[in-house]
Amino acid sequence: LNILMAASEAVPFAKEGGLADVVGALPRALAARGHDVRVVMPRYYKVDRERYGLKLLPGVLVVPMGIIGDMYCGVYEGRLPDSDVPVYFLEHEQLYGRGGGLYEVDNEGYLDNDNRFIFLSKAALELCKMLDFRPDVVHAHDWHTAAIPVLLNTLYRTDPYVGAAASLLTIHNMQHQGTFYEGAMEVLGVGWEHFTFLGLEKDNQVNLLKGGLYHATLINTVSEGYAREIQTPEYGWGLEGVVRERAADLSGILNGVDYGEWSPESDPLIPVPYSADDLSGKAVCKRELQRAVGLPVRDDVPLIGMVSRLVKQKGIDVLAEAIPRILGLDLQFVMLGAGEPWAHFYFGDIQAAYPDTFRCIIGYDNPLAHRIEAGADFFLMPSAFEPCGLNQMYSLRYGTLPIVRATGGLDDSVENFDERSLAGTGFKFWDLNAGALFDTLGWAVHTWYHRKDAMEALVRNAMACRFTWDEAARGYEELYVKAMARRGRTAG
Ligand code: ADP
Ligand code: GLC
Repeated sequence: LNILMAASEAVPFAKEGGLADVVGALPRALAARGHDVRVVMPRYYKVDRERYGLKLLPGVLVVPMGIIGDMYCGVYEGRLPDSDVPVYFLEHEQLYGRGGGLYEVDNEGYLDNDNRFIFLSKAALELCKMLDFRPDVVHAHDWHTAAIPVLLNTLYRTDPYVGAAASLLTIHNMQHQGTFYEGAMEVLGVGWEHFTFLGLEKDNQVNLLKGGLYHATLINTVSEGYAREIQTPEYGWGLEGVVRERAADLSGILNGVDYGEWSPESDPLIPVPYSADDLSGKAVCKRELQRAVGLPVRDDVPLIGMVSRLVKQKGIDVLAEAIPRILGLDLQFVMLGAGEPWAHFYFGDIQAAYPDTFRCIIGYDNPLAHRIEAGADFFLMPSAFEPCGLNQMYSLRYGTLPIVRATGGLDDSVENFDERSLAGTGFKFWDLNAGALFDTLGWAVHTWYHRKDAMEALVRNAMACRFTWDEAARGYEELYVKAMARRGRTAG
């Protein structure tokens, strides 16, 4: 199949969250299965053209931006590492040439995010002409490229390159919907008749995700659990009705893990490699982690790790409430993350109050994330919602037992410990409150102290789990073929 994948981030070039991991890995897995996959994304200021050997393509892309008029951009071509998958970078100084985050600076979204991502969506489609590429499917991700399905059904319906393409919209996060002042309709340029309750309008604003949900040929999310959850008010963020209307076209595919990067046998970022057959290296990793973050080096306490964006989605408000009680247990806790300013201060204060048990490293640090995965005994993810979650899957591979709230992908990928059969791969709680979190963490710690046999069984079970991209790619392949059939097209 010819697949065009449009997204706002992809590893290794630009990453804010797991979306980048997915867009960096899924195309390679699809290419390995014989598909012609092309990725398109912005050339953010921080994407270093020299480092990635990007080459400027001849010609200029003309992107009609409604009331703004035509905008022009250059296109750089690169490759996803260890693959032939081309990545096309849109070069536009005014839209993408700035420091700060990909979407915001100082916790405020950029005021021109509507233009930045409507541009990305349109440019992705215009690019096909430039490349003489006729996609069978255009695969969009989250609100940033959710305008694509809308454009395919309207302005680009009869386009000779993309007009016949089916579309798939993958939802990685329902909370962020791309809502803008209604004037964005004039930039999108699809006509005010689409600014309705059954289209792009929500609460008198343009809602790009809503438009995408209505217009995509098919929709999926990154776990079956989350696909069910977003049909309810608790998880739908006001779009649950739209999702329910399209429930027949909605499915869930769990993300995979890049085991080339995340395997304790071969991870160059951890002090000593180890495997399920010989865990002695894991004990060394624990000591090295304790030393590195300045905690007392002790084998005789369980070490809880956490690597997370420090935002409400990740349950950090609940953790904030529970942490003083948690630190009353005999354990150590190391947390790595960045996010909401209050959390930086709050957990910083906790560290000052509990210097021998709690460490909070504010920042983004991939090598340290690896060392935490390897060195901790447990990995905590008390998420309020978690479409898939990658860290619990990494943790399983490193024999670092996840303690998770049973939601979305966390519920789907972690099996709760069964004391009698010694089955399971981690510890789960259901209610989103400090009591449930404390009790379950306490259960894990108790198991660590008093049930060495159970710990060994759980670690063995966990390390045997695999979530491969090849399997996920098969799932996407099926969806692509199904979406094409909807448009009256057959594969091959
Ligand atoms: P989300 O995309 O919602 O943040 P995921 O679990 O899907 O959650 O993906 C998070 C990714 O970002 C993982 O690869 C994780 O290791 C990484 N990550 C998050 N915060 C940090 C951090 N502070 N330092 C290093 N890596 C981080
Ligand atoms: C989002 C979700 C996360 C998921 C990731 C990749 O960032 O919050 O749960 O793993 O997308 O799909």
